[in-house]
Amino acid sequence: MKGESVKGKPKVLVTREVFDETLEYLREHCEVDANQGDVALTGEALAARAADKEAIVCSLTDRIDAALIERCPGLRVVANIAVGYNNIDVPACTARRIMATNTPGVLDDSTADLAWTLMLGAARRITEVERYIRNGDWKGWRLKQWLGVDVHHATLGIIGMGRIGQAIARRAAGFDMRVLYHNRNRVAEGIEAKLNASRVSLDELLRQSDFVVLQVPYSPDTHHLIGAAELSKMKPTAILINSTRGGVVDDDALVAALKNGTIRAAGLDVFENEPKLNPLFLELDNVVLAPHVGSSTEATRRAMAMTAAKNAVAALGGAKPPNLINPDAVTSKT
Ligand code: DGY
Repeated sequence: MKGESVKGKPKVLVTREVFDETLEYLREHCEVDANQGDVALTGEALAARAADKEAIVCSLTDRIDAALIERCPGLRVVANIAVGYNNIDVPACTARRIMATNTPGVLDDSTADLAWTLMLGAARRITEVERYIRNGDWKGWRLKQWLGVDVHHATLGIIGMGRIGQAIARRAAGFDMRVLYHNRNRVAEGIEAKLNASRVSLDELLRQSDFVVLQVPYSPDTHHLIGAAELSKMKPTAILINSTRGGVVDDDALVAALKNGTIRAAGLDVFENEPKLNPLFLELDNVVLAPHVGSSTEATRRAMAMTAAKNAVAALGGAKPPNLINPDAVTSKT
């Protein structure tokens, strides 16, 4: 915005690097303070930089908690560049009538693709075999070399049948899989029929599935949803996929289960305390690891950033943003 006066425009903090078009769009409507250096702002630095802003466009690595909100008297909207929003204290936002938004929809297919990447990768031991080739260890073809397990015709169990869970289930049709799901509510009958999916209890899903895929948001209710007891109910041949949030799985229990052969393998895109994952994962061959890249395709990350920017601008303009998480922030009379 070279030379243009920005006086009078609402101030927005963009906490981490975004795409040029995201900034251009924001700058049409706001005075932008952008952390394009992309070094995560720590608690105090974040609070100091956010203090005079009306909007924060943030990422899942930023903790937008009650203490930070307290430091921002003019804050009107927190726009997360993520569908998950466990990094935001939503009740604290609502109490202050600050709108909070997320980016649902635009990342469903990319995130489902990554869950499938992990499933196929763990089933066919793709990281192990790649390491084997790179190490120069391949001396020739053998019948019993690197035996994996079939994905086709296996039973897929999806825990959390929202949009991403459904996108994962849709892909299963091409692999002739049986699909089970566990969800608080039954999905519409028409969707169940289309996905050929049956709702079962968590226990039944764990006992029957060859692949268990987690797609629930993280919250106190889903903290360690999968721990030692649940892992022990799974088939010893089963594969667990966590591409939702760290903390939904008890990672220490998972390390033990992978080590002891309680389950066959795992594919993980998210971890407790990431990026400081349990170092024992690195010693295990039967786990495929990815650094929280579920939604990371160029098109999807661009769409997520722009969705967040549009949510922020809508809120600042006095409209209800398209992806408002806390409608009570607008309707409640406090
Ligand atoms: C989300 O949007 O919550 C994803 O985890 C980001 O990759």
